[in-house]
Amino acid sequence: MFKMRRILVLGIVFLVGVLLFFISSCSPSRNQGAYLYERDCSSCHMPDGSGLGELYPPLAGSDYLKNNQGKLACIIKYGISDTLTVNGIQYDVPMEGIKKLNEVEITNIINYINTAWNNQLVEQKLEDISLQLKKCN
Ligand code: HEC
Repeated sequence: MFKMRRILVLGIVFLVGVLLFFISSCSPSRNQGAYLYERDCSSCHMPDGSGLGELYPPLAGSDYLKNNQGKLACIIKYGISDTLTVNGIQYDVPMEGIKKLNEVEITNIINYINTAWNNQLVEQKLEDISLQLKKCN
């Protein structure tokens, strides 16, 4: 009888351990953001966020990114074709939107680029991104 209880207790301790390991070792949102960035953005903005010369602006250390947090969701979903000045350099090539991305995916991408490559921008909430997407024109 005593042995059974011990086995049971050990079993529970083991399962809790496994569970804690999984919770601590993966952050699904950040992983998804990194994955999607790699898939949908890195060909132009480069894996290290440095951009490509005068064609594609950088995201790493971008003053535009920092000052236009409220526009990001719409830029990602619907693109942008203004003349943008990023860190003192002008960019004229339009960026196409990536319409297949949903609001959760867009939030995760934004939070990835906001904190990757030493960027230290505030985390964006899904509710706010969702609201922004309703007001894109
Ligand atoms: C085909 C190339 C291409 C792809 C793919 C692309 N972009 Fe862009 N991106 C551009 C260009 C070009 C501009 C400048 C647009 C302009 O001048 O109007 C830009 C501008 C931006 C800007 C604002 C300027 C800055 O550097 O801060 C952000 C933010 C941005 N892109 C994020 C993304 C994200 C996130 C993705 C992936 C979901 C992405 N882009 C995919 C080419 C691209």
